[in-house]
Amino acid sequence: MSTLEPIIRFADLNETIADDLYRDGHAVIDDYINPNLVAQLVRKIDHLECDNSLKRAGIGREKEYKKRLDIRRDFIHWLEKDNDEDRLYLLLMEDLRLCLNKHFFLGLFEYEAHYALYDKGGFYKKHLDSFKGAKNRLVSTVCYLNENWQNSDGGRLLLFDQENPDQIIKEITPQAGRLVVFFSEEIWHEVSPSMKPRKSIAGWFRCNSSHEDKANPIV
Ligand code: OGA
Ligand code: MN
Repeated sequence: MSTLEPIIRFADLNETIADDLYRDGHAVIDDYINPNLVAQLVRKIDHLECDNSLKRAGIGREKEYKKRLDIRRDFIHWLEKDNDEDRLYLLLMEDLRLCLNKHFFLGLFEYEAHYALYDKGGFYKKHLDSFKGAKNRLVSTVCYLNENWQNSDGGRLLLFDQENPDQIIKEITPQAGRLVVFFSEEIWHEVSPSMKPRKSIAGWFRCNSSHEDKANPIV
């Protein structure tokens, strides 16, 4: 195998994501994250849990921020660039950002992501990641970190039809290495109750929301 192969493979997968997003508004790619990196990311989230660094997630930004246990029950920790695991994952997402910007004129400018742990019984009720007009989160990503997940373990990501948001169009198990990408303003989705601890990284590509005097840094 040539040393270039992994790079070429990722480029192909990103092209597939762009095609699927264009056609369906969402993409589901198995084995996007290789098993080595999955293992590193699992170790990282396990350490975060042991250190009590995972915090109960809320909904809404800044002044609107609320903890709503009736809506979501995950524990999160934001990725930073000060450690190798987070940096590696963020680099992969940077490649994807460049590819999506080449295909769609979205002007994706930055990426934010957090580890998420749903304990037994955890869920996230049906929601949109961004509301039209808020012009903030444009493309959502979720990468799963659970080896040997069974159908009976629950914790499925349900995607709803863009035209008819009452209708489920896909049920996705949170299998290790799998990446799901979808348009944040269009795709209603939900995490069904999980029967056991469920680990993932959820992230969002955002447009440039900086003001004249406050430029947002790129990567
Ligand atoms: C989210 C979300 C889906 C998943 O964090 O906003 O919808 O499958 N996550 O974890
Ligand atoms: Mn979501």
